[in-house]
Amino acid sequence: MSEFEFPSDLLHRLREAHHVVVLTGAGISAESGIPTFREAQTGLWARYDPQELASPQALAHHPELVWQWYAWRRDLVRRAQPNPGHLALAALEKMVPRFTLITQNVDGLHQRAGSQEVVELHGNIMRTVCAANRHLVTEWASPPEGEAPRCPICGSVLRPDVVFFGEPLPPQALQTATAAVQTADVMLVVGTSGAVYPAAALPEIAKTHGAYVVEINPLPTPLSSLADVILRLPAGKALPALLAAAWPEHTPERL
Ligand code: OAD
Repeated sequence: MSEFEFPSDLLHRLREAHHVVVLTGAGISAESGIPTFREAQTGLWARYDPQELASPQALAHHPELVWQWYAWRRDLVRRAQPNPGHLALAALEKMVPRFTLITQNVDGLHQRAGSQEVVELHGNIMRTVCAANRHLVTEWASPPEGEAPRCPICGSVLRPDVVFFGEPLPPQALQTATAAVQTADVMLVVGTSGAVYPAAALPEIAKTHGAYVVEINPLPTPLSSLADVILRLPAGKALPALLAAAWPEHTPERL
């Protein structure tokens, strides 16, 4: 028996959907202990603005600082575990005929939770590429003492394979995401502030193409006004409960 009441229309649409698309942001990983972008950073990094560190300018002028910041975030990600929100989305993928999970997160927690169809719009923090030619460097590049590590192939500075502020998104990922939202019957928008484009435009495209849009976020966002249903709850509570309410007979006990 769920402690939440969901609108029957929402449960019906989920059960009947042919294609469910989910857009996630940093909020879904907050319950795994990874701080979101727009909340205060902690400890050593409290005085830095993530927007300034995650930038091509910072990499060019202060590569060692950028590397130390990413080393700290990588460490957080390595120690984090998928939470019930991630696990519920992995389970939801198995319930519906077609499912696409679009994430702005770079932490890989959806894949670790078992999600298969994941479109990474902003890259993945655990991969390392070189700044000049995007050579993929597989060996672990440890945080430098003095200067940033360099590509063994071309010698340019290495960087995490993530999209920095002001950089374009990987074209293939954006294309896949845009195509997916156009055929979605239901779109769940989970834990994103809707502040960063083009990801923030995806729910509107979905809506224009007839999708039923559901926002799951404890706080209002600019996307709230286009949602058909708003669940003002943390994702780790809302998603398992929603799954259990829509498919009471199938939901695994561990959720
Ligand atoms: P933000 O940090 O902007 O927003 C996080 C959202 O999650 C906020 O709206 C919170 O209210 C919400 N939230 C917090 N805890 C939650 C919980 N337990 N369950 C559900 N929601 C919760 O993160 P994003 O929207 O992901 O881009 O930010 C988008 C992009 O901006 C990031 O991918 C990153 C950043 O700059 C790049 O690095 C290119």
